[in-house]
Amino acid sequence: MTTRWICGNWKMHGTRAETRARVAELCRLLPRAPAAVRIVIFPPFTALDVAAAQAGPQLELGAQNVGWAERGALTGEVAPPMLAELGCRFVIVGHSERRHLLGETDAVVAKRLAAAWRGGLTPLLCVGETLEERDAGRTGAVLAGQLRAALAGTDPAPLLIAYEPVWAIGTGRAAAPPDCAAGLKTVRAVLAELWGDAVVPCLYGGSVTADNSRPFWDAGGADGALVGGASLDPEAFAAICRAASGEAEA
Ligand code: PGA
Repeated sequence: MTTRWICGNWKMHGTRAETRARVAELCRLLPRAPAAVRIVIFPPFTALDVAAAQAGPQLELGAQNVGWAERGALTGEVAPPMLAELGCRFVIVGHSERRHLLGETDAVVAKRLAAAWRGGLTPLLCVGETLEERDAGRTGAVLAGQLRAALAGTDPAPLLIAYEPVWAIGTGRAAAPPDCAAGLKTVRAVLAELWGDAVVPCLYGGSVTADNSRPFWDAGGADGALVGGASLDPEAFAAICRAASGEAEA
């Protein structure tokens, strides 16, 4: 049975009190991780310690971003050892909101990835095309470009990748499973070219819900999902985690 990864990106949602309550409710709904599923939650920086204290072993912890140095004059950034100290083992790198709303370049993404690895964190690297790029038939080229910029010249290391079409994020317009499969095929081909037969779980992200999640792994070839909006609702997120293992709905 292959392991599936269900990751919850809580974005800029959740005070410390709200995070404590959300994690407690998730633990109540999922007293253990469903068979062959790993669940990683990514709360805001300010609530990471609260999430770590409240979570049981069924929930693993990640941060939504990571600074590219161990320390130094980088106002507003959070360094890998600071995240590790709070119990984080994962970090999202290159999310489309950071690339497109906050101006993060491929070069910055590569620096963050390298820092995550130096700090012993497993990055969850996000790649994806905009609607304009998709309409221009450039999806494959965009994905390959983002992956090469991030990974060229690196040696295989612990990594998760999320294929997240920008037009599918937060829009309620999830990719159709064949589009998901096509994107992931490109991702895996570029990975094979760069890293040979290294095993890297490749997830899908973009408007995943409790109702639509199953086809992404059944037909879309995804090794799991990066879930935004629906991950804020513990019932919905727990349902997605159960769907990933094929366990009967509780
Ligand atoms: P969404 O977000 O599930 O709300 O579309 C996904 C993401 O941004 O990772």
